[in-house]
Formats: sequence, structure tokens, C-alpha cells
Amino acid sequence: MGFATDAIHVGQEPDPATGSIVPPIHQTSTYVQPKLGESKGFDYARTAHPNRRALERTVAKLEGGSAAFVFTSGMAGIDSVFRLMRPGDHAIISQAVYGGVIRLTTQFLVQFGQQFDFIDTSSVENIVKALKPNTKMLYVETPTNPTMIITDLAAVAKLARERNLTLVVDNTFMSPYLQRPLELGAHIVVHSMTKYLNGHSDCTAGAVILSRQEDADKIYFLQRSTGAGLAPMDCFLVSRGIKTLAVRMKQHDGNGMAIAQHLESHTKVKRVLYPGLKSHPQHEIAKKQQFGFGAMISFDVGSIDAARSLLNHVKLCSLAESLGGVETLISHPATMTHASVPAEMRQRVGITDGLVRISVGIEDVEDLIADLDFALSKI
Ligand SMILES: Cc1ncc(COP(=O)(O)O)c(C=O)c1O
Repeated sequence: MGFATDAIHVGQEPDPATGSIVPPIHQTSTYVQPKLGESKGFDYARTAHPNRRALERTVAKLEGGSAAFVFTSGMAGIDSVFRLMRPGDHAIISQAVYGGVIRLTTQFLVQFGQQFDFIDTSSVENIVKALKPNTKMLYVETPTNPTMIITDLAAVAKLARERNLTLVVDNTFMSPYLQRPLELGAHIVVHSMTKYLNGHSDCTAGAVILSRQEDADKIYFLQRSTGAGLAPMDCFLVSRGIKTLAVRMKQHDGNGMAIAQHLESHTKVKRVLYPGLKSHPQHEIAKKQQFGFGAMISFDVGSIDAARSLLNHVKLCSLAESLGGVETLISHPATMTHASVPAEMRQRVGITDGLVRISVGIEDVEDLIADLDFALSKI
């Protein structure tokens, strides 16, 4: 079936007991066992429950994986993926990843003997130079948050195959509607489903989608051991959100391109980072591996004062962290999402004080442009 059909029907079959078109929310912690040693498939909600199983089937299908596990947040899922590595193992990570990944690895996981290097993964040569005998994992975000750098997934997948590395891709910015890394050779995809997959900014959630059974077995072991699996109500919310993923992403994509083009022609804007623009250095790679360019745009207004003035004058766009919801959110990475990243590292990867990130929603684009124009006029 097509993507939109799968998004609506896979894992969301009507309830066989009652015919309810929407599967019920199983808000229970435990399951009564008919006899000692027998169950109806579930025993305790930390281990598994019907709403989690249903959502896991949906996201596995949409990403083209053989298994998926859903977590209480994107970071909980990402943490479980890094735990596939052993003490002494080394991972190469895209240098401008989401700040929470930098915090988790450099401030926490290093204490357990894992090693990490942050490299510009848009160049395969850079990755090759950073390889060590103990390198086990390549962790790539494409486009990166918030610098919108693209990594050529087919090229890094080839390298991962040749060097026996596990390739992990954070597909949060694109969603499986616009990019499917497993089809390009990645082994694991992670998502903050808090963003596009849920799409309605009403819960946090994460997903890990896998192509290899041995990884799936380990992730499931971790999920039920640590208890980081997503709760029934939140699974219900994400399952409901996913049903409209295809139509939302079409609208996000159209609005994103219109706003990126508008900003690029605006005199108050110094630079626009959006892979859909011809001016983007990896525009051709984005065109090759994505089915659209999405709705995440970063742009530089030159200074922190200019950024402050812009952010304090928007009315329709909301000043907030997060992204991927139906409503437009605007933020200042240097002091918000990436505040935990050391200043030297922010400088090196291009998170300047004048950089503003916008997650374009699905409102009428004319209204968004009018709001941005008003706020830009105040700089
Ligand atoms: C690209 C990306 N990956 C992962 C995360 C972490 O997800 P969560 O906030 O759901 O833990 C975020 C959060 O903003 C993100 O932007």
C-alpha cells in the first residue's frame, strides 16, 4: 500500500472485540492471567502493552524497518541506541547534532568508558580520517539541527558496510515521509516523535527503528529492563497524529520552501540555511536522498540584538523550543536548544548568536510571511 494508506491503517486495525474503529487505550498496568503460566499476550505494561505494540508496527512500516520500539522521549530512545556500544567503543557523531545528544554523550556516557568524536559528516573523507580501530558506530543527523548540513546517506552507508560500523540516522527533521535512511543502507533510525510524527505538540515520544534482529533484541531488552517504553495514552496520541503525517508533511514542505525563498530575498536576513534552496551547499545531495525539503529553516540576522528584536516582535510564530508541530515555532539555538553546547563548539559548527531557527507550521503561509516581515522590520 502507499505511504498515506499505511500511516492510517497499519497498527490501527479496528478493535476485534467491539468494532471500535479507533483501537482502545489500554490504560492498565497489569493483565490478568487466565491460568498460571498462561497469558493473552501481555502481562505487565512496562514490558509491553497493546497501544505500544500498535504504534511500533506503524513506525516500523513507515520507515521500512523490521522492528521498532517507542520510548518516553527521543532522548530515551537515543540513549538505548548508544548502550549497544560497550565500554571502550568509539562513535563518530555529526558535529552539529541536537544539543541533548552532545550532553548525553560528553557529560554522561563518557563516564562508562565510551568515546565520542564530533565530525563534519558531510565529508566522507572527514569520517575516514576520524576512524579508530575501536570505532563501532556512526551517528548521523541529516539535516543537522540547526545548521542544516546534509550528509550523503548512501555514501556513509557504503563506508559503514566496508568498515563494519553500525550506521544510526536521526530522521526527526525529515520524517519517513520525506526521507527513509534504512532504504539507503542505514541500520538504525531514531526519531524524536515529539516532533513531526506526533505533529500536535501534545506529548514527548521517541522511536528506534531497526533493520537487524540482533539490534532489535538488545533494544527490546533495554526498553523493558529500564522501563523507558511509551505509556498507553501517549502511544494513542502519536498513533492519532501519524494518521495525518502525509498531508501535514505536504503542507509543511510547501510552506517551508515559500518562507525560505522569502527570507532569502529579505534585506534584513544575512544568510538562509535550507536544503531546498540552490544556494545550499548540499542542495544536490538533499535532492537525491530526500522526497522534499521539509519545514526547518535557520537564518542569520547578524547579531544577538537583531535576533532578540525579531523574536520579541513575532505574534503568530511562537517563541518556543521544539519543532515539527502544526503551529509555527521560532527559537534562538545559541541560548535555547544548544545552550548546553560549549561556546567554542557552537562557534566551530556555525551556531552564531544571530542565528534563528524556525519550524514552519501548516498555517496559511501568507499569514506567516506577514508576521515575519513585521518582526524583521523592527530590527
Ligand atoms: C533532531 C532531534 N533529535 C532528538 C531530539 C530529542 O528528542 P526529545 O526532545 O523527544 O527527547 C530532538 C529534540 O529537540 C531533536 O531536535
